[in-house]
Formats: sequence, structure tokens, C-alpha cells
Amino acid sequence: MRLFRLVAGCLLIAAAGFAQAADAPVFDAAQTRRILSHGPWPPEMVADRSNRLSGRPEAIRLGAVLFGDTRLSGNGAISCQSCHQPQHGWSEARARSEGLQRLDRNAPGLLNARLQRWFGWDGANDSLWAASIRPILAHTEMGGSAAATAQLLRNDPPLACLARHVDPAAAAMEDADLLVLAAKAMAAFQETLVSPRTAFDDFRDALAASDRIAMTRYPAAAQRGLALFTGRGQCGTCHSGPNFSNGEFHDTGLPFFIGDAGQPPGTPRRVDPGRHGGIAQVKVNPFNLLGRYNDDPSSPAAIPIRHVVQLHRNWGEFKVPGLRNLIATAPYMHDGSKADLHAVIRHYSDLDEDRLHADGEAILKPLNLGDAEMADLLAFLESLSGPEDSAARYQALRAEAARVCP
Ligand code: HEC
Ligand code: HEC
Repeated sequence: MRLFRLVAGCLLIAAAGFAQAADAPVFDAAQTRRILSHGPWPPEMVADRSNRLSGRPEAIRLGAVLFGDTRLSGNGAISCQSCHQPQHGWSEARARSEGLQRLDRNAPGLLNARLQRWFGWDGANDSLWAASIRPILAHTEMGGSAAATAQLLRNDPPLACLARHVDPAAAAMEDADLLVLAAKAMAAFQETLVSPRTAFDDFRDALAASDRIAMTRYPAAAQRGLALFTGRGQCGTCHSGPNFSNGEFHDTGLPFFIGDAGQPPGTPRRVDPGRHGGIAQVKVNPFNLLGRYNDDPSSPAAIPIRHVVQLHRNWGEFKVPGLRNLIATAPYMHDGSKADLHAVIRHYSDLDEDRLHADGEAILKPLNLGDAEMADLLAFLESLSGPEDSAARYQALRAEAARVCP
């Protein structure tokens, strides 16, 4: 009897010590390994060798100014910031972007953009700087030109001054080279947009250090959601690594047709080819990493474009987005068709298997999640967000530029 009381007492003390974790899951060795693979965070800052301006403060400053400059557009009214708004995690609240025309896709957030291998939902660009040229030239987006961008950098006194600080020879460059300079400066600026550490990262590091007390600070619901994410949900197969993306393209069973609400009845329906079209575009893009604007052709960044081939299965595939700081970037998916994270989770729960490629995503099955499981998964996804100050740093950079080159 006394022994029983002693054991019960010890159990009670142990239970009190981990009270918060009482309904938290226990992670086995395989799951622990998977969880640890989603860190550490933040990642090391590695310069982009294809961009000689990467990491250079003068370029970052010029890039921040250009990012908000509507004069890069044909009608003088649209800047990058029109669609990539700092207060929305550098994306926007609209489902589908509107430039000079309505686009088929949602503007992705730009936090952690530098960690990607392909840019755009279809990967039609293979560098951050080429992805920054695309919207300027696209007649549906900003409708600008190399000539107009070059004129601006040569003739606008503050911009010419900022460009001179980046490269003393800027004013004498050809139009295309100045366009590339502008895009590389904007890329250097976008490279500084990194999402903050989060509650998940604290948990992940506590798990790595076997610090059980610190682990209990991570809410049990988020822990259960994490167990689903790395376990039965198999989400981490595609959403892998510290940025929760394998950098590749998959079909997740969204409708092929572009939703054209508000179109007159009888308007022919269009299909978004996704990655299939993206591969065709990146191969012929004069600004790809095989072209003469790559500042380091030996950089490993140029390997993917050399080897990518277009396959039938690429139809309707889209890039796996990272999952950090999603809290600010609603709506979700390439077409902005999911208004909130709950709707995304319901999509994976109710997945239409008939819509999935026959040869494609054997990983995805309808998960048939209960309400409590959906709430857990949501708690986990929300724990990948934290307060961040990139909007304030953007304003500070622009103010600094105005001081240096009034
Ligand atoms: C009219 C709205 C609009 C404007 C203006 C715009 N973008 Fe975008 N941006 C988008 C959309 C939509 C996508 C997705 C494109 C796709 O998948 O084809 C995108 C994609 C990107 C990407 C790729 C991100 C990723 O995660 O793959 C980058 C980088 C980017 N834009 C930077 C810029 C810069 C720099 C400018 C200004 C020069 C700019 N954008 C102007 C709407 C816009
Ligand atoms: C087969 C690979 C794959 C698996 C498995 C997968 N995803 Fe995705 N996920 C994607 C792709 C691809 C997209 C973009 C789809 C699109 O827009 O067409 C996406 C989009 C998302 C988005 C929207 C992000 C944004 O910025 O719009 C969230 C959230 C998400 N997935 C969470 C999950 C969760 C939670 C699971 C597990 C239940 C999961 N994913 C499993 C590939 C996958």
C-alpha cells in the first residue's frame, strides 16, 4: 500500500511537471528526425552568385526604392508594391492579381523567396532577378520596357544617383543591361525579406536539445497538428525542409479551369497549364541562368535549368509554396481559391482523388479529418507565423535612400 502511494506520488509529481504536455503526442525517432529537418531557422544568408549585386547594401537600397516606383509600368500607375504589399506578407488580399489586365494567379508572398529554386507558381523563371524582370515587361502586368526603365535610371536624379552608387558605369550601360541592373537590385532587396523565428522553431530547437521543459511551452494542439503533418497527413513529403517546400511542382487536385466569376455565360473556359507552360517559358527566357546575364555561369544555381525536361505529367502542376508566415498572405493556392487556412485544410481532408493525375501524386489521399484534427492542423500552421518587421525596414531603407540621394 505504502509502495503504491509512493509510486502514485512520483507519477503525480511527474505529471505536474509536464502538465501542459499531458495531451501532447509523443514523437518517435523517425518523427523526431522529420521535425528536426524543418530547421534550424533562420537559414544562413548565402549570396546568390548569379547576381553580382546580391547582399550589397547600395543595391538593396536602390532595390527598395524601385520596388515602390510606379514609373516602371507603362501607365505609370503600377509598382511591384501594388500586388506585393508589405502588410500582406508581400502578397495581396485579392484572389487573382490585377495589373494592366486581370491575371490568372494569386500574387505569392515574397518572404523567404530567396530560398527557392524556381520562381512563379509555374517556375517560369530560374532566378529571383529574372522573376523581377518578368512583371515589368509583361503586357498584362506592368507593361513597361527595358528602354523606359533605362531612361528612368539615367535621367531621374535620385535614381541615377542611387544607381551610380551601385555601379559608377551605370549611366553608360545599354538598355537591357540597365533593366537587369534594376532587377538585380530589386532581387538584392527581396533577399532581405526573411520570416521571423516562431513558436514552432523554439519547439524544434527544444526537441533537438531534449529540453522537455521548453518543449511544453508549445501548445498541445500545435504539437498534435505537427504529429499529423509529419505523420498520417504526409504533408512534409512536399512541404519539406526549413522553409516547408521541396522546391518542386505537384498537382494537389484543384480544378484545372480558371475560375472566371463575373464573365458572361458562354465565355470559353480556360485551363492553367501550370508547370507544363512554365518549363516551356523558362527554357527560352533570354534572362535565364544559361544566358549572358548570369554573373557566374559555374554557379550550381544553373544546374536545374540545364536538366529540366517537359513531361506530360507537368500539366496542372504548381510549385509547392513554403508555409512560413502564411497568416498574412490569404487567400491561398495559385488561384487564390481558398479564402483561409481552414479551407486549405478542408481541401486536403476532402480531396477529390478522381481529379488527381493518374500517374502523379500517389502520396495524396483524402485524409477525412475530424473537426478536432482540423483545428490541430490549423494550430500547427498558425504556429509557423510570428510578428515581423519587414514593412518597417522597407520604409527605413527608402528613407535612407532619400537622404543619400535626395
Ligand atoms: C499585377 C500584380 C503584380 C505586380 C505589379 C508584380 N507582381 Fe510579382 N507576382 C505577381 C503574380 C500573380 C505572381 C505569380 C506569377 C506566376 O505564377 O505566373 C508574381 C510572382 C512574383 C515572384 C515569384 C515569387 C515566387 O514565390 O515564386 C517574384 C520574385 C515577384 N513576383 C516579384 C515582383 C517584382 C520585383 C515586381 C515589380 C518589378 C512585381 N513582382 C510586380 C503579381 C504581381
Ligand atoms: C503532393 C505534394 C503535397 C502534399 C503531400 C501537400 N501539399 Fe500542400 N501544397 C502543395 C502544392 C503543389 C501547393 C500549391 C497548389 C496550387 O496552388 O495549385 C500546396 C499548397 C498548400 C498551402 C497553401 C499555401 C499558399 O501560400 O497558398 C497550404 C497551407 C498547404 N499546402 C498545406 C498542406 C498541408 C497541411 C498538407 C498535409 C495535409 C499538405 N499541404 C500536403 C503540395 C503538397
